[in-house]
Amino acid sequence: MTSTATAPVLRPAPGRPADVDPSPARGRPNGVRLDAIARSFETPQGRHEVLRDLDIELGSGEIVAVVGPSGCGKSTLLRLIAGLDRPSAGVIRLGGTALRGTDPRTAVAFQEPRLLPWRTLAQNVAFGLPRGLGRREGRQRVQELLALVGLEHAAALRPREVSGGMAQRASLARALARGPEVLLLDEPFGALDALTRLRMQDLLLEVHAAEPTTVLVVTHDVEEALYLADRVLLLRSLRQHPHSGSLARTVEVPGARPRDRADHALAALRVELLQGLGVHAHQTAPSASRIADLTSENLS
Ligand SMILES: Nc1ncnc2c1ncn2[C@@H]1O[C@H](COP(=O)(O)OP(=O)(O)OP(=O)(O)O)[C@@H](O)[C@H]1O
Ligand SMILES: [Mg+2]
Repeated sequence: MTSTATAPVLRPAPGRPADVDPSPARGRPNGVRLDAIARSFETPQGRHEVLRDLDIELGSGEIVAVVGPSGCGKSTLLRLIAGLDRPSAGVIRLGGTALRGTDPRTAVAFQEPRLLPWRTLAQNVAFGLPRGLGRREGRQRVQELLALVGLEHAAALRPREVSGGMAQRASLARALARGPEVLLLDEPFGALDALTRLRMQDLLLEVHAAEPTTVLVVTHDVEEALYLADRVLLLRSLRQHPHSGSLARTVEVPGARPRDRADHALAALRVELLQGLGVHAHQTAPSASRIADLTSENLS
């Protein structure tokens, strides 16, 4: 699928709010900004603080990956930005406007595809279309989206009749159906086999190249994060670091996309991130001094 063919799919949805602050995240419209975000939950064992002191800016059109140990609050963060949950403290702004609940400019896709089992894939994708779209236009849009994710042939099948990868692609198409300005992905390719996963990463980049939606992608896969993102945010677990903020490190990923998966600079960053996650990684090249250079260049 070429980027030309994908372009019309991601045109803006009708009925977007016009009251957008002209001084948004990273100087461009429709970015996302989190100021001093915290989230804690009351549990039978007492208050459980999951996120603390999170200041994050997602520039419009930027791809940002979030990595961190299990339970550190990645999904919680994504749910907050999606407006599915509210922070205990702090403000989230979308295009300069404070978020109050879910927003039509945002779409979410979760690790499990969450398709409606009694509907066909086409009907599931249509479920994501913005309100107010004509029937014919809607049908055409669904066809475009199915083609975009390589599912034209499976439009009439139901979720139980397709593979996990196909269901995952349908889920991505549904998230794209409304032409979101902000796409939130929670381990979207986690359940897929390695090859399908690599293909899905390229598919996401094709979609993004066609229309630079702001993307926040949560992943357990450090290589995936470095392949996809402009920046990688490493979160820490507050259980292990009770006196720190949630953001352990920000890694700026060098080089333009599509990236070479074998790039030495990425390999060095991979080691850094894995070490940040408490995993001892070995690599022979580049040299330790080069890693140190890259660290000082790219880590803040
Ligand atoms: N509604 C809730 N009530 C109580 N605790 C919650 C709630 N939602 C999340 N938590 C807790 O917050 C912590 C972070 O959960 P979250 O799902 O955000 O982690 P995660 O980083 O996405 O982990 P994983 O990598 O395993 O998906 C967990 O300890 C979880 O039990
Ligand atoms: Mg999670």
